Amino acid sequence: MAKNKFKILIVGFGTVGKGFFDLFYEKRDLLKLGNVEISEIIDSAYGHIIDPNPKDPLPLKTAASEQNLSVTELIKNSDADLVCEFTWVNYTTAEPALSHIMAALHSGKHVVTTNKGPVALHFGSIMETARIHERLFKFKGTVMSGTPSFDLMDLIPGAKIKSVRGIMNGTTNFILSRIREGKDFDSALKEAQKLGYAENDPTNDIDGLDAAAKITIISKLLGWGHEFGDVERTGIRNVSTEEAKRGTKLIAYADKDKIYVKPTEVSDDILKDVNGTDNAIQFDTDTLGRITMIGPGAGKRETAQAAISDLVNILRISR
Ligand SMILES: NC(=O)c1ccc[n+]([C@@H]2O[C@H](COP(=O)([O-])OP(=O)(O)OC[C@H]3O[C@@H](n4cnc5c(N)ncnc54)[C@H](OP(=O)(O)O)[C@@H]3O)[C@@H](O)[C@H]2O)c1
Repeated sequence: MAKNKFKILIVGFGTVGKGFFDLFYEKRDLLKLGNVEISEIIDSAYGHIIDPNPKDPLPLKTAASEQNLSVTELIKNSDADLVCEFTWVNYTTAEPALSHIMAALHSGKHVVTTNKGPVALHFGSIMETARIHERLFKFKGTVMSGTPSFDLMDLIPGAKIKSVRGIMNGTTNFILSRIREGKDFDSALKEAQKLGYAENDPTNDIDGLDAAAKITIISKLLGWGHEFGDVERTGIRNVSTEEAKRGTKLIAYADKDKIYVKPTEVSDDILKDVNGTDNAIQFDTDTLGRITMIGPGAGKRETAQAAISDLVNILRISR
């Protein structure tokens, strides 16, 4: 790295953006990142914040369009080394995140994202763009937030992964846990919404789109080539109390031949004990047999941890 300072631009300053900002400054000394700083924030609500104060990043007044530049132009013009893309997820076009990521890579910046849309829908073209521009593209937070998931692969070189399955959506796991305890679907969903686990429009979770995106991302990493649109998908709307009591979970599964998300009975497996908002992932390998990892799959601090892990990896590789 030629420059002394390593600068970060955050795009999207909601739950994850704010969580990352706070965790970065909380851990900066511990991680010996004194020469790394968050130099810019771009957000539709707060505008373009330059040199945000680590203790109080939000401006009194927004300066959104002082030059009438679009977000992609601001990204291209920035002198940041890394763009953190934390805007909303879109499973139809992956926008606006896809354009933000491409603008960052084309202008020579590394990228970290927690946004599943671009990774699940445009994995190949993003990786190719990153390769051409010799930049790194990291997306740990797209699967199980900061809990180790697909990054396990880096720890077991040579091991062949034969299949992957898991509970990859905390909202549906929480609802199924409540149904198992006797609640009906509608009141379990309302409780999840009240606690902030489910969106007002819960479709992405309930109908399995979020889990489908995650299993697609893993399948892409493993070179199995399944597309997001190929995922055979059934959500949890019709899971009965009896099925939930027998240990039915929303399982995402992939091997080289098939990929699906559907309610599946797991009464004979450790997955049956993964309850509430927890997530789990199991890799079936040729050298170690089955490996299971269990932990949180969402949350402000938990997802910020994923972006911190990606940042540290990028610094380690690029220096
Ligand atoms: N929250 C989690 O636990 C979690 C876990 C894993 C992954 N993720 C993913 O991480 C991403 C961020 O999640 P989040 O929970 O932080 O969402 P969020 O709270 O809705 O924050 C997104 C932020 O991006 C802003 N934004 C939207 N479009 C923009 C644009 N074109 N330019 C600049 N800013 C824009 C939004 O502003 P407005 O509100 O004004 O639109 C909002 O402040 C999503 O893709 C999500 O799926 C979240």
